Amino acid sequence: MADTAREDSTRVAGVGRTALLVAAARAIETSRPDAPARDEYAEHFVRAAPGCADWPLRFDQVPDGDADPLWGRLARFFGLRTRVFDGFLLGAAADGCRQVVVLGAGLDTRAYRLPWPDGTTVFEIDQEPVLTFKQSVLNGLGAVPRASRVALTADLRRDWAGALTGAGLDPTRPTAWLAEGLVPYLPPAAELELLATVDAHSAAGSAFGYEVKSGVRPAEQRGFPIYAAVRERLGIDLLALFDAGPRPDSVADLGARGWRTTVHTPFGVAVRDGAGLRPASDDALAANRWILAVRSAGANTAPVHVPA
Ligand SMILES: C[S@@+](CC[C@H](N)C(=O)[O-])C[C@H]1O[C@@H](n2cnc3c(N)ncnc32)[C@H](O)[C@@H]1O
Repeated sequence: MADTAREDSTRVAGVGRTALLVAAARAIETSRPDAPARDEYAEHFVRAAPGCADWPLRFDQVPDGDADPLWGRLARFFGLRTRVFDGFLLGAAADGCRQVVVLGAGLDTRAYRLPWPDGTTVFEIDQEPVLTFKQSVLNGLGAVPRASRVALTADLRRDWAGALTGAGLDPTRPTAWLAEGLVPYLPPAAELELLATVDAHSAAGSAFGYEVKSGVRPAEQRGFPIYAAVRERLGIDLLALFDAGPRPDSVADLGARGWRTTVHTPFGVAVRDGAGLRPASDDALAANRWILAVRSAGANTAPVHVPA
């Protein structure tokens, strides 16, 4: 398996490589005694990708610990984000969603990690090289999903709904959707189109968790410690990969479509949960917002705005 996975990994480039960064962060977080979420598969993706040989996989391999902007702070952020969306999706499943769609799934292993109710199907959408690499690593581990799993290749900037319904998604049944770490890479029009597509395929009782960046001006943030560390140490220029267009207020759009939305900041969640993530100066994480939305049977037209 190692050779196959290594060959497949060489095609994971550009924005696809950001999935490896998140997997490494989840591996590190998994090694903490107080891990916010555990992903035992994460380290295997990093081990299988040759360009990541010098990346740490455990917190005790991070020389500066929490002071390291990349494998300390950013990893803590990803760990907390994982826990928030794990809880949100499992809550939606408990409320009756038996279809889960992970948009920009990357190396997300929720289909394998989480205790889904019987009859759940998890659909994952990403680029072909990312999904092929992921599959080869999981096959090599003999991993068995805890739900039916359907992996789909699509470009989320274009029409992807047909692939999903063609693969079995039933829009008349409630669905739990997730777009974690995806939206900033999409052009603004594609973000709104993605929301419209989710909305059009969501029966009452559906749920949608996603992440946006609010008020990011890439040119002003190049020197921010997290972006600089990811660029200089991993060769991933996140700000260049983010779409530079002004972001739409997709939260208001969703509210106007009748979804009940709540907006959370990572620091607000960290304080609430007693997690060790605090604001810093020139903080790339200050712009992140986690949106948790539910489509109830009744209409709710009150818009909810992302705080500035
Ligand atoms: C930062 S990673 C996040 C992966 C995963 N959601 C997680 O949190 O671990 C972003 C993912 O979005 C995918 N992606 C970005 N733009 C995409 C597009 N236009 N179509 C399909 N996938 C896309 C990338 O390939 C990558 O796997």
